Amino acid sequence: MPAPQPPPALDAAAVDRLVAQAEAAFQAAATTAELRGAKSDHAGDQAPLSLANRAMRQVPPELRAAVGARLGAARAAVERAWSERDQVLAAAELAQRLAAERVDVTLPVSLAPVGAPHPVTALMDQLGDVFVAMGWEIAEGPEVEAEWMNFDALNLGPHHPARATSDTLFVAPPKNHLVLRTHTSPVQIRSLLTRPLPVYVVCPGTTYRADEFDATHVPVFHQIEGLAVDRGITLGHLKGTLDHLAQTMFGPVVTRLRPSYFPFTEPSAEVDLECFVCHGDSVGQPDRPCRTCASEGWIEWGGCGVVNPRVLKACGVDPDEYSGFAFGMGVERTLMFRNAAADMRDMVEGDVRFSRALIGGAR
Ligand code: PHE
Repeated sequence: MPAPQPPPALDAAAVDRLVAQAEAAFQAAATTAELRGAKSDHAGDQAPLSLANRAMRQVPPELRAAVGARLGAARAAVERAWSERDQVLAAAELAQRLAAERVDVTLPVSLAPVGAPHPVTALMDQLGDVFVAMGWEIAEGPEVEAEWMNFDALNLGPHHPARATSDTLFVAPPKNHLVLRTHTSPVQIRSLLTRPLPVYVVCPGTTYRADEFDATHVPVFHQIEGLAVDRGITLGHLKGTLDHLAQTMFGPVVTRLRPSYFPFTEPSAEVDLECFVCHGDSVGQPDRPCRTCASEGWIEWGGCGVVNPRVLKACGVDPDEYSGFAFGMGVERTLMFRNAAADMRDMVEGDVRFSRALIGGAR
């Protein structure tokens, strides 16, 4: 009787061939993705080695242990071959990716230019802060303003020279009676019409006049307006407020009120700063002229006064019960004095180096 034989699918040569085929396929795989495909072909559920397992049933019992061990060893060999190839390919792919994604941190970079707040904006914020710290509020109004707010309500009659087209920029069509506000004073009116009394507001904002564009004039400029309306407000409160503002802006500086005229304040004054360069020493001294104050000893800073009762009335405020003061100054002018910026044109050119120099670097 011939010795029992395993079915042909399970004889040693067939199993060795399957292992060799699997090893060859794994070697042939050039990437981990290809290797995954080869693994499912040679070690997956439908792989010949897995299917050969099913032939175990036909193996005579006395051979079963040996054939089973051969099959198990074959599968382990295939698994090992796969795992070795996988490690080699994965390592190669990782090395390739690291090389491709390498960043040379020593390469020179082109820095994106960083801006800086404009000194006029920065100064307006700072001016506003002085008043917010005293409990005042910031008020705002439109830059395209009703002619009535910009002039009539402020007691500037229809024939006031400030209305002439040479100063005021009107917005077409004329029948709409709109102007680009020539000062921030219309915000006084808006504040009185909309806020409960007492009113303590400052309005920093953009203003427009048909002016020349030169070292001391720009057609688009900025003002800060202040308005306090309460019971018992006097000129003394105005002087104290302006002194406080001047000192926070310029350090220990002397101010003076010089009689002047504005239709919306009565009495009215210009507020002057004692020249903080020559402190008046250049006055009458032709051999020691001062360029900052033109040897006058004082620098004109802004306009101010006690709110004209006609303005209060126009806003429905009883002038017998309430009084107020108002002031308005140019922000560019303030910047010129404070930072010795001689030419206003620098303020509109938008050169970041100018901004950095004046505000001490980007914030
Ligand atoms: N509005 C005035 C101007 O632009 C300044 C001012 C404001 C004067 C408030 C008095 C009171 O010149």
